[in-house]
Amino acid sequence: MAGGSVSECKEYLFKVLVIGELGVGKTSIIKRYVHQLFSQHYRATIGVDFALKVINWDSKTLVRLQLWDIAGQERFGNMTRVYYKEAVGAFVVFDVTRGSTFEAVAKWKHDLDSKVKLANGNPIPSVLLANKCDQKKDISNSTALMDNFCRETGFLGWFETSAKENINVDEAACFLVENILANDKGLPYEESNGDRIKLDQETVAAESKSGCC
Ligand code: GTP
Ligand code: MG
Repeated sequence: MAGGSVSECKEYLFKVLVIGELGVGKTSIIKRYVHQLFSQHYRATIGVDFALKVINWDSKTLVRLQLWDIAGQERFGNMTRVYYKEAVGAFVVFDVTRGSTFEAVAKWKHDLDSKVKLANGNPIPSVLLANKCDQKKDISNSTALMDNFCRETGFLGWFETSAKENINVDEAACFLVENILANDKGLPYEESNGDRIKLDQETVAAESKSGCC
């Protein structure tokens, strides 16, 4: 009899954006998360870079995160609408040593929400990252203030991260994926081909495998 069989393992492919001002550490966070590497050397991203992280979420779920590392300078360009297309989650990053980068977070979030939405019309889940927490802070926002800011601007939550010292990078990613999966319940990869992006291995610069945190 045809049909009726439910496949044992579900596979998902999620496009996740990493956005925020120039030099806040977007590329470094991705490098840390995907390759467990860090470099002090700054080389600005031009346009967009890609990385792939494969997560053995649980015994029945495989998640591929396609991370879109978007150059800080792109907010002033016209490409963000193209880059944001079909994303299902986002990190907005700022640098705790530079207050101006926090001030720009609301603009990035607004840009994001105005250009991409979930199929049901809701904003895509997004998480705020206060990066370089290994350094002396320029802004020392209280937890209450940050919680309030997240509520007002529509972030699911925020994490203090350090790509350098490997603080909270995995935790933040797990938190975002949990929320993406909650939105995607009942829509495993094979059944939602129309909504999902196709993965072209040649466009993916980097890949690593790991279990969840
Ligand atoms: P654009 O591509 O220009 O938008 O910048 P970006 O956001 O990708 O920043 P990138 O990751 O290139 O990092 C900028 C600089 O900050 C580099 O010199 C990194 O080494 C440094 N950096 C990134 N994350 C951290 C961190 O957690 N702690 C410290 N101390 N330095 C960091
Ligand atoms: Mg970069």
